[in-house]
This record gives sequence, structure tokens and C-alpha cells, in this order.
Amino acid sequence: MSTIVKQNILVGSLEHVKERGCIVVTGGGHTIAVFYHEGQAHAVDNRCPHMGFPLDRGSVKDGILTCHWHHARFDLAGGGTFNPFADDVRTFPCIVVDGEVWVDPYPPPRDENRHWQRRLNDGMEHNIRLVIAKAVLGLEAAGADYTVPLKIGAEFGTTYSADGWSAAMSILTCTANILPELREEDRPRALYQGLLHVARECAGKAPRFPIDPLPTGEMRPEVFSAWFRNFIEVRDEEGAERCLATAIEVGVSREDIARMIFTAATDHIYLDSGHVVDFANKAFELLDHLGWDMAGQVLPSLVHGMARARRSEELSQWRSPIDISSMVWEARRGLPSLLDRSHSRSGGWHEEDSLALAILDDSPKAIISSINESIVAGATAEQLGAAVAHAAFLRMAHFHTSNEFRDWDTVHNTLTAANGLHQALKRVPSPELLRGVYDVAMSIYLDRFLNLPPMPLPAIASNHESSTEILGRLLDMVNVRHQVEESAKAVSDYLAGDGHSENLMSTMGRIMLREDADFHSFQILDAAFKQFASRKCAESARHVMIGLSRFLAAHSPTPRAEGQTFQIALRLQRGEEIYR
Ligand code: FES
Repeated sequence: MSTIVKQNILVGSLEHVKERGCIVVTGGGHTIAVFYHEGQAHAVDNRCPHMGFPLDRGSVKDGILTCHWHHARFDLAGGGTFNPFADDVRTFPCIVVDGEVWVDPYPPPRDENRHWQRRLNDGMEHNIRLVIAKAVLGLEAAGADYTVPLKIGAEFGTTYSADGWSAAMSILTCTANILPELREEDRPRALYQGLLHVARECAGKAPRFPIDPLPTGEMRPEVFSAWFRNFIEVRDEEGAERCLATAIEVGVSREDIARMIFTAATDHIYLDSGHVVDFANKAFELLDHLGWDMAGQVLPSLVHGMARARRSEELSQWRSPIDISSMVWEARRGLPSLLDRSHSRSGGWHEEDSLALAILDDSPKAIISSINESIVAGATAEQLGAAVAHAAFLRMAHFHTSNEFRDWDTVHNTLTAANGLHQALKRVPSPELLRGVYDVAMSIYLDRFLNLPPMPLPAIASNHESSTEILGRLLDMVNVRHQVEESAKAVSDYLAGDGHSENLMSTMGRIMLREDADFHSFQILDAAFKQFASRKCAESARHVMIGLSRFLAAHSPTPRAEGQTFQIALRLQRGEEIYR
């Protein structure tokens, strides 16, 4: 005879369970459905793991329990599901003693961290957003660090896309970057959106098959760099990837690898409209979060995009009516002698804001001259990057809404390219990467028609609202379309007051995350946070936040479908009943 453990719950006689088909009992904080099937009793959590529908209202046939809401099916005896969207249902030990059915409501605890990691992989593989949302929340509740879901997303996104690094991988990196600036409750929402984009991007795609490193004793960074640049030059993807994989494997330093990649990324003019530098920068930012151990997995995924990138000197707008590409090549050739004449070691140049305004000039020749004069006067690579980023945000701040809606993306693209270059210059301030400053400055020049006429910046007003009221107003106003100027004014008002800049950033984060935010929204939020954080007290910081607020307001509201799914996951985690 089996021993009845004290904690077990008496369900009733087996005959009674058979007669009723299912009996519901409670214990151990659970509501448990006990089913009769083929002479045995089986106990499962009465809450369907999909969206909480009571399973006692389901039906059992041939040992399969079917939930009657979305028809998820479970093996009644083991609890495993046949439908990945649902998850396995928890089972409880059930015994029959002297014709009485007893249930143990305290089964061994589940390893929540492991369970939700597995479920996150399921959600990514099958592109199921509710599963991804639940897994992100489950991992957070299990005490997992944000790098746990981030790493799963990074491994997935760099494995299951033959095209390598994608916009979705950049979104995922942006979510990790912005986390510290978000309110605590918005952080899992951000990770969920980033992971969801990766799952969507990879859905139905062929995987990427990595190339093994060379069996070589070569370890010199300059040799790998020469090989790599050469392979990218002739668009030999496989050669470039094998070279990069080998350099990482033999232990070439992180700095030398970065220099090698960013040099190849600027050997031609403005590759893929700045995306090559921007994506490379994002890949290094991802490694900042996950550690250099992931370099062999992450960095080779950049090669496909680098080798196939469109070179802007091939584009008509860079050749005619003004041959901008020739001007850029000439400037690039003159860079070494400018750097020789530069007073950069003195650190006495502080004209970033003036240079930013000069980059908005109508003459490409004058723009290049201003950059050259700044270099000779001692501007550092980082300062030059900051100036082009500021100029790009000014284009956004002055973007006129009489342009076509799609033109927001044109100024946005230059802006994120400028920010990517600026961040890369902070990481690797090499003369080769400095060539990118001319490229981005010329892209800002090409976007000048989107500031014709320039939309004026909001006046700096003395306001009578508290900072909290302004942020509340800002959140409300972008529930309505076309609040571009109104939101810029609210941001300007906030910055004129004594509100904390952290609260403004977290509010901007919330504004974006409640929408179905796309690649551009994530990119601009991440870029704006970085640019704003480094200029908090300057007028240029106001330009950054005005540019950000105008872009987000122009793209709000959306149907907010992603947020609704996340909200369902949150309510399920809290034990709320969704089906009523
Ligand atoms: S299948 Fe059970 S709640 Fe959806």
C-alpha cells in the first residue's frame, strides 16, 4: 500500500472522479484539476499555461487534454504540450489509496531560470511574441541578469540569418544600451521588443554557417588588417570572414580588431549610407554588454554586409551636379598632412558647436574646409565626431513637416550614421576612421533640402508648469497624431526648468516603448540618449532632445499591438484572469 503523505489533499473516491470526469481542488497555492482517464487519475494545474483558461472546462480524449480557448493540447499524464505557443502544464503527483484519490500540491520546484531560458529559445525559434514576453518576465522574476536574455537573442540572431548582422541585431543592442535610462518597469518591455525583432527578422531564413579560423601561426595584427581590407575591397566574403575569425582566435587584441574592421568600413565612401560603420559600432557595443568571449560569434556576422555594401562614390547624387565624391577623396588624401600640422596634443580646441553649424553650410567645399581647419586647430577625432552628430540632430530638429513623411527616414539615417561614427571614434580614434567624418558631413549636406525652410526651434519660455506636469502633458499629447511641434515645445519647456534630465530620458523611453517601435525609433532613441548624456548642460543637448521628440511624435501613435501582448504576459504573471 502507498503511504499517504500528510500534505496530500483528498480529492474523493476514484469512482466519484470517474463519474464527474474532473474535480477541482485547491492546495499549496494552486488550483488543481484532477481528471479521470482509463482507470487512472491525473492532476494538472487548472490554469492553462497559454492564457490561463480553466482546464477543467477542457476535454480529454485518447489521453490528450484540450483547452477550450485556443485549443492547445497537452499529454494529460506528463503535462507536455503539443503546441509550443502554450507551454507545458504543470502536473502534480496523484495516487489512489483504498479507492481514494490523493494529490500532492507541492511538487518539486522547477528551475525557473532554466525553464524560461528554454522557453525564450522556443519563442525565438517559432517567432511567438507572447512566449518571448513571458520568458523575459519569467527570467526577470527568476533573478536573471539582463545579459541572459540578451545573450540568447545575440546567439540566435547571429546564427539564424544567412545575411549576418541585421537591423534587428542593432535594435537588440539598442535595447541593452537604453536599459539604464528606463524606468524599472519599462526595462523588460524594451528587452522583449528587441528580442521580438530578432525573432521576426530570422523567421524563415536560412542559418549562417560560420567559417573556421585558419590553421596558422600568423599573429601580427597588421597582416590580418591588410588581408581583411583586401578581401573586403574585392568583395571576397569568405576570405574576409576566415581572416577575421582567425584574428579573433589567435588573440589579436580587441582594439586591433576594432581598428581593422573600422578601417575596412571606411576604405570606401559612406558604405551603405553609413550602415556599415553604424552596424560595426553596434556589434562592438553588444560585446561591451556580453563580453569579448562572444567576439567569434558576433563579429564575423558583420562581414556579409561589409563585403556587399554599396559604395557611395557609385551613386549619382555623390557625383552630380557637384562631384562630392571627388572632394571627399581629395580631403581623405590630405588628412595625413593635416594631422601632422594639427595641434591636437594641446587639447585647446573647443569649437564643436561652431563646427556643427558650419557643417550645415550650403557649400560642400566650405564644409570640408571647416573640418580641415578644425583638425589643424587641434580638434580631436572624438570632437569632430561630436560636431557631425550635433549637425545631424540639427537637421532633425529643423526638419520641415511639409516634406514627405518618408523623408523623416532620410534625416534619421544620416543622424544614426553620425552617431555610429562618433561612438566608433571614441572607441578607435584612428586616422583611417576619421575619414568617415567627411562622409557623414557630406550626407548632412545632401539632406539640406529637408530643412528648406528650416522649422524654427521652440523659443525658450519661462514656464509655470512643474516638470512633472510637463512630462505628463508630453506623454498625453503623443496619444494624438501630428504633435510634432507641440512635443518639441514641451521638451524645450522641460529643459528650461529644473527637472532632472534622467526623468526626461525615461519619459522619452516610455513614449517609444509603448508604440510598435521600429528600427529607426530604437536607433534614434539610443543615439539621442548617448548624445544627450554627454552634453547635458549645453544648448546642443536641447537640439538633441528636440530632434528626438519631433521624430517620435511624428511616428506616434501606432496600434500598440506589441505592448498589448506584453501587457497580457504581465497580467498572466500576476495571476490575473484574462478570459473573463
Ligand atoms: S489555449 Fe488555453 S488559454 Fe489559450
